Amino acid sequence: MKGLAVNHTLEEQLAPPRPLFDEQQISARVKALGREISEKLPSGNIHVVGVLRGAFVFMADLVRALPRETCCDFLAVRSYGSETKTSGIVEITHDLSLPISGQHVLLVEDIVDTGLTLRHLQQLMAMRGPASLHTCALLNKPSRRRVDVPLDFAGFEIPDHFVVGYGLDFDQRYRNLPYIGVIEAAQA
Ligand code: IMP
Ligand code: MG
Repeated sequence: MKGLAVNHTLEEQLAPPRPLFDEQQISARVKALGREISEKLPSGNIHVVGVLRGAFVFMADLVRALPRETCCDFLAVRSYGSETKTSGIVEITHDLSLPISGQHVLLVEDIVDTGLTLRHLQQLMAMRGPASLHTCALLNKPSRRRVDVPLDFAGFEIPDHFVVGYGLDFDQRYRNLPYIGVIEAAQA
């Protein structure tokens, strides 16, 4: 994937996001995921951990599609600056508020790209002794993987595009788009 340079002429460089999944497609898939997760996770409370900020919109819809008792918590990571390629460095900028020891944890990510963020978070969660640990991502870009990480549930598999909307951003923009779209650098 080509890197997209960020500078003060961003608006001039970027065309509007090209729709990839519309609201109806996302809604149907999230509802199906909720049922799938509910059937596969052990009985009892599901301790849902959202990865801020990208997962906040997805998680809000996913927990409402989970016909189970849930507990919701969040952590925040920074793995990207203002560029679209990963630094490989994952920093926890806000940790969980609740203990996860003995809990059935569902880690909720917006997208798995290189897998570096997810690997780091899975290791961190596993060290805290959950009863079980499953991971769900709205989007999966398998062609970009640099490390092998288990992903138990994925909404959509996508090719190597940079996507925004439904919580995902480019340089903090577009998170409030109700659909998922692709952004491409305009022709120079
Ligand atoms: P990874 O560590 O390379 O798997 O990257 C994971 C994080 O990078 C995600 O949680 C996103 O925040 C961000 N990311 C990766 N690909 C995209 C994309 O296409 N759009 C928006 N954010 C992305
Ligand atoms: Mg993210």
